[in-house]
Amino acid sequence: MDSVSDSRHVVIIGGGIIGCCIAYYITRHPSYDPDIHTVTLLEASQLAGGSSGKAGGLVATWADPQCIAPLSHRLHTELSEEHDGGRRWGYRRVNCADVDAMGDAVGHVNTERDGSQFHPHATSAPKLTDLPPGLDWILPGSITSYTELGTPENTGQVHPYLFTTSIASLAEQRGVKIILGSVKKINYSQDGRKAESVTYMLKHTSEMHKLSATDIVIATGPWTKYVYPAAPIKESRNHSIVVRPAKPTSAYVLFPELQPKVPQKRIPPEIYSRPDGTIYSCGPSDEDVPLPETSDLVQVNQEACDTIYNDIRSISDEIRDGEVLIKQACYRPIVQGRNRDIGPLVGPTGIQSLWLAAGHDSWGIQNGPATGMVMSEMLFEGKVRSADVTSLDPRRVLNVP
Ligand SMILES: Cc1cc2nc3c(=O)[nH]c(=O)nc-3n(C[C@H](O)[C@H](O)[C@H](O)COP(=O)(O)OP(=O)(O)OC[C@H]3O[C@@H](n4cnc5c(N)ncnc54)[C@H](O)[C@@H]3O)c2cc1C
Ligand SMILES: *[C@@H]1O[C@H](CO)[C@@H](O)[C@H](O)[C@H]1NC(C)=O
Ligand SMILES: *[C@@H]1O[C@H](CO)[C@@H](O)[C@H](O)[C@H]1NC(C)=O
Repeated sequence: MDSVSDSRHVVIIGGGIIGCCIAYYITRHPSYDPDIHTVTLLEASQLAGGSSGKAGGLVATWADPQCIAPLSHRLHTELSEEHDGGRRWGYRRVNCADVDAMGDAVGHVNTERDGSQFHPHATSAPKLTDLPPGLDWILPGSITSYTELGTPENTGQVHPYLFTTSIASLAEQRGVKIILGSVKKINYSQDGRKAESVTYMLKHTSEMHKLSATDIVIATGPWTKYVYPAAPIKESRNHSIVVRPAKPTSAYVLFPELQPKVPQKRIPPEIYSRPDGTIYSCGPSDEDVPLPETSDLVQVNQEACDTIYNDIRSISDEIRDGEVLIKQACYRPIVQGRNRDIGPLVGPTGIQSLWLAAGHDSWGIQNGPATGMVMSEMLFEGKVRSADVTSLDPRRVLNVP
């Protein structure tokens, strides 16, 4: 291992939550000295332009994988305390539950006509009397079970776009250079065993540049296959909407479950009440449109967004009388493999100087801080102190000689 005084030139590829957290935690490492080390983050389109700016933003100690989730949750609390996260990125504690949702109990919603997911005529279903009293923005009778997943003790939320861009500017203040440019190629030594530099195209001028590095960290989420085809990372698109409800809603995140008694065609949308007075809701994934080359080119299917709205307005007057502010879509990075519990991949690739931090699936916002911290320890110390991340080692799934 190099001694800490050796100067490191770290290039991070990708300005989503993972790249930004890695940049930030490198600058927080005791060995980091901005006069000795350089850290450059290259982002192809826009910071947080992918799922990092369009996610729900739930953070929880009980997230997957358990080897980093509790650490990351603690780091969220610390970041928020240190940098006024409540004000800057909407950090707050929240309740979270699985619910069986039955739709409008009086049957205003016609399933066939508007395609609403929740069953409209379920008046015979048992009504749950012990809903939390604070959950007053769901129509009585439209939820028939409430199974607590998280409480304010172990669950919270952030506004993902504000969180990611805030972490990026904190990293910048501590010496990280952020460049809008797209990495076209990672250059290797002649024997292919060492990564030496990246070739990138500046976004605004299309000029090509080369940047040499002692360490190259790939944090390109679902786009990883374009820069590093060996990585078994695929993508899946989910649509989501942001609604301004007619009245402010209390701090709950609801995961409606499939109602076993009612034949279902699709997975019901998740519902997140947010501290900025909006409600975020995301629907199931679809494989209709393959990943476009950049986040600017992600297509939004209006109908998929309308379906989400129709679903959630059927169980809440506040939502029904509200206004849809945003319709959007984004791609989650998923580690391919027979075992669907594999991922994310965080650590050495087996090629010298080349590191991977991608495949965070549904929990990248939550697991970004721990990913950043363990990567900073790998870079500066050659091993990880803060968590046991052997199960995330990319070399387990990469076939590097
Ligand atoms: C609908 C939805 C809801 C979600 N809700 C939650 C939630 O509640 N809680 C949670 O923890 N997680 C959630 N997630 C998951 C989370 O959004 C992702 O795991 C996380 O954003 C992935 O971050 P990333 O930085 O790896 O990828 P991205 O956010 O995709 O960032 C990758 C970046 O790399 C850039 N890039 C790509 N190629 C290049 C290149 N060649 N050169 C330079 N830059 C490049 C891209 O432009 C992009 O900005 C949700 C995801 C979805 C889809
Ligand atoms: C990097 O790769 C590009 C494209 O193959 C090549 O033109 C360039 O000379 C390489 N640079 C180095 C330093 O190897
Ligand atoms: C996205 O779609 C998948 C599959 O339909 C679903 O399980 C998941 O809950 C959706 N939302 C997120 C944030 O992944």
